[in-house]
Amino acid sequence: MSFLEQIEPLRQAALADFGAAPDLAALEQTKGAHLGPQGRFTGLLKQLGALPKEEKPAAGKLLNQAKGELEAALAARRAELELKAALPKEPTDFTLPGRRHPLGKLHPLTQVTEDIVRIFRKLGFVVADGPEIEDEYHCFDALNTPADHPARDSQDTFYLRPEVTAPGAPAPKPALLRTHTSSVQIRAMRSQPPPIRIIVPGRVYRRDNADATHNPTFQQIEGLYVDRHVTVGDLKGTVEFVFKELLGNDVKLRFRPHYFSYTEPSFEIDFASPMVRKMGKDWLELAGCGMVHPKVFENVGYDPEVWTGWAFGFGIERIAMLRYEINDIRLFYENDTRFLRQF
Ligand code: DAH
Repeated sequence: MSFLEQIEPLRQAALADFGAAPDLAALEQTKGAHLGPQGRFTGLLKQLGALPKEEKPAAGKLLNQAKGELEAALAARRAELELKAALPKEPTDFTLPGRRHPLGKLHPLTQVTEDIVRIFRKLGFVVADGPEIEDEYHCFDALNTPADHPARDSQDTFYLRPEVTAPGAPAPKPALLRTHTSSVQIRAMRSQPPPIRIIVPGRVYRRDNADATHNPTFQQIEGLYVDRHVTVGDLKGTVEFVFKELLGNDVKLRFRPHYFSYTEPSFEIDFASPMVRKMGKDWLELAGCGMVHPKVFENVGYDPEVWTGWAFGFGIERIAMLRYEINDIRLFYENDTRFLRQF
């Protein structure tokens, strides 16, 4: 058999073997047998050099053509087998129902917050925001809270270690985690002229040990209303409207005189409902509030002779506990979906 005649049968044999390889490993093996260093087709290529000079061009051309063809066939078969390997081994039953993604839900605290925000929006309030890392000015001083107030004690409040500054630089202001959302009252009033109608949902921090009714971090909602001729009547009317919308018409509210340094007069709002009765109590303390203290207006540059206002603050967890009859605040933070799915 002449050299040229040998090419065709080897080409055919290689193509047949590639096509017959049942998987990728087998394909690699047949590749070696034909195109590897000791392969049969490679053997032909090696003989090319020994051919008489006048036969070389035609033989070389034919060999190259065949080699290109074999490599293309190899790549095609490899792609085919790779696809086959990626397919499921078992036959697929396309009539089976699809796999459903479980739908998430809003956290109960988020639901309560959104409901409260929605109710206040009806009254023309907008949401305002402020940083959780605060300074003493916004958290205390500007709110007329004296330096000897227990809230400023490092036993009660989380102070952050001041950042190291250059030697000789003035000591940085102490930073702390805000103990209440009331600090945002100051930020809002300093950044815009009156009138103001804002509510501020947000996280606050206290040095409390966790138990059924305390947690070192919890959520509050602050409200602030500043305009001309605002009265305690406006405060009572607004708070009653909101809590009846939120918790039902059979709730009763009571305003009890109290002391906050940033309001005068100040009140605590107590709450009575069938749910509170079930807890064995007549009244449950729910929120602090009052008429914005003239000193606070002075601190933010509002004229206290012109402007009047009320403010309040309450804990969202407590409202959610009342609403959903939950007896341990820690359940809100454990992220156990068996608990969260219920609301
Ligand atoms: N900041 C108070 C607290 O955390 C709640 C509060 C009381 C907010 C009276 C107010 C207010 O805006 O007027 O306990």
